[in-house]
Amino acid sequence: MRVVRSVAELRIALKALREEGHRLGFVPTMGFLHEGHATLIQHSRQRCGATVVSIFVNPTQFGPGEDLATYPRDLEGDQSLCLRMGVDVLFLPDASEMYPSHFQTSIEPGPIAEPLCGRFRPGHFRGVATVVGKFFNMVQPDLAFFGQKDLQQCAVIRRMVRDLNLPVDVVVVPTVREKDGLALSSRNAYLSPQERTRALSISQGLFAMEAAFKDGERSVDMLTAIAFDPLHLVDQVQYCELVDALTLDALSGDVDRPAAVCVAAYVGKTRLIDNILLNPSGDGVMFGNG
Ligand code: PAF
Repeated sequence: MRVVRSVAELRIALKALREEGHRLGFVPTMGFLHEGHATLIQHSRQRCGATVVSIFVNPTQFGPGEDLATYPRDLEGDQSLCLRMGVDVLFLPDASEMYPSHFQTSIEPGPIAEPLCGRFRPGHFRGVATVVGKFFNMVQPDLAFFGQKDLQQCAVIRRMVRDLNLPVDVVVVPTVREKDGLALSSRNAYLSPQERTRALSISQGLFAMEAAFKDGERSVDMLTAIAFDPLHLVDQVQYCELVDALTLDALSGDVDRPAAVCVAAYVGKTRLIDNILLNPSGDGVMFGNG
């Protein structure tokens, strides 16, 4: 595994891989890697001859008062996970490499960034789109892999790729969960054992709602109420909404197209998000573009 820190070194490493005829897969991360990231790397390795992983805690996607300074970090553990998973190139830029002085150009996503997390994290998706757009230009991957847990992030990036004609296929990989249902997230490290137990109410509500959907319940209000019910155990619910899985438009009446129930909630000081996809046709939800 080659570890590179500058864009210049990255380009040299990638040129060699491309000359060997490899299709390039890319997994952007903010580190503190877990089995969810390992699964993204596995998907990339299955579909591409070479895999690039980046680790960069991107300051521009954190708002004032958010957890940029305390975001968990474990570079040594991350490097061994990447080695174990067969990553070819690990890119570890620092902030001055990503945002040199006088940096002033951003990618501003459209309305797809406004609902759900966009309501509570102003500017977050601008930061995500900008850094991912920069990474796509640096790595020029054929395929890029993102976790479904960050459903709105996936939607924003897919929209950006289409709108800006970026030559990359975005692959959305299903959420990886602990045995008891908790969606894997680097932020789970913040939870005390007692908070972790309360955090399970998020996935429990989603599973109950999914079971009702499989039993034929189609009412958006009923399904949302089922997902919401156990959330009295968390400290603050930011949203629990049923939306179109692709456009993120709010749904009403009956679910008549691929949909997602999305939740964001605080348990203690930790903000957690999760979602489950529903498809009335009984198939998996096809995200297109990859
Ligand atoms: O999902 C993440 O870890 C980040 O938002 C990403 C895509 C690496 C951009 O900083």
